[in-house]
Amino acid sequence: MVFKLSAVFVTLAALASAANYKRVACPDGVNTATNEACCVFFALRDDLQEHLFDGECGEDVHESLRLTFHDAIGFSLSGALNGTGADGSMILFKDIEPNFAANDGIDDSVNALSPFLTRHNVTAGDLIQFAGAVGTTNCPGAPRLEFLAGRPNATFPASDNTVPLPQSDVTTILDRMEDAGFTAAEVIHLLASHSVARSDTLVPGHEAVPFDSTPFTFDTQVFLEVLLKGVDVPFGINNTDGAEVNSPIPESGEMRLQSDFALARDERTACEWQSMVNNQQLMMSNFASAMSKLAILGHNREDLIDCSEVVPQATPPLGKPATFPAGTTADDVEQACTETPFPALSADAGPASLIPACPDGDTDLDDCPS
Ligand code: HEM
Repeated sequence: MVFKLSAVFVTLAALASAANYKRVACPDGVNTATNEACCVFFALRDDLQEHLFDGECGEDVHESLRLTFHDAIGFSLSGALNGTGADGSMILFKDIEPNFAANDGIDDSVNALSPFLTRHNVTAGDLIQFAGAVGTTNCPGAPRLEFLAGRPNATFPASDNTVPLPQSDVTTILDRMEDAGFTAAEVIHLLASHSVARSDTLVPGHEAVPFDSTPFTFDTQVFLEVLLKGVDVPFGINNTDGAEVNSPIPESGEMRLQSDFALARDERTACEWQSMVNNQQLMMSNFASAMSKLAILGHNREDLIDCSEVVPQATPPLGKPATFPAGTTADDVEQACTETPFPALSADAGPASLIPACPDGDTDLDDCPS
């Protein structure tokens, strides 16, 4: 018996050392990787974290995450639209795709990421998906996303109309997403991304208008707040341009997208939407699965190399349950899912207040660390 056990240990030790032996030493003399093709991503990761994201879940992370979608969704199973998926075409054809209406504002991330292509030997499609995976690890509560490398560069731009518009109706959005391979449930899973999102383009004269009260935390507040009653309000404290947004909490400066509003209330998607209210773990696993599909649209998984080990560890959730923002209660919920009861949540005390503009809590956008 003793002999058998020690034989097992010797075999296990040999296997472990063979696995270590199989790791390749990277040319940087610092890192090792399971595959040589992953080596280039260590320096890219550090460069992105240091020179673009500053280790924060700020504007550049949000914009990079949005870009993962806008680049990848340039793909059509039916062939009705052109595009080869997650292929870097948004950067490679930066005089064409960023000009499409649905890509308004995407030039910020295209311009921010382009210099990294000259400093690192990676394809544009890999850069975009890798930046999204690395950046989201700075957001407390975001899952650690998979990263597979090896997307060839696009040779032609995607067609216009591959990216859904916020003013489109639910059927149009679901049809477009289905044509790219996503179920209605997966569309809602991807929209967890709007937990760390703000609009720079939809409210004239205003930037960084948040979609929930916690735009620097990947939590489930967005699924709750989009379901609250809202009003069309003149936007901002010193509003001189008369811009209006629909907001559940006007005093906070928050808005919601018409598309999110409609998807949260449509019978095809309402229960999926509600299921993530106050269910952080479900939101994280749903998002990670849907993103692993999005990130390789247009490619075969078998043709790519798993370099997930280069993605930093995720920042854990803050551990705060979802709460009704100050000034709102359960009476404000416009519940559209009839299958399951709405979760019982507590409400934040005090009057509604302005949502900070920066990850460090500052309320002046100009004071955000850049
Ligand atoms: C139904 C489909 C979707 C629509 C209609 C939609 C629409 C929008 C719009 C209009 C904005 C505001 C852009 C601006 O004014 O700056 C936005 C922001 C954003 N979207 Fe989406 N989106 C959709 C799906 C997605 C998906 C699938 C992802 C990622 C997986 C995503 C990630 C983001 C992020 C992170 C932002 C914030 C960007 C920032 O803060 O600068 N969106 N989205």
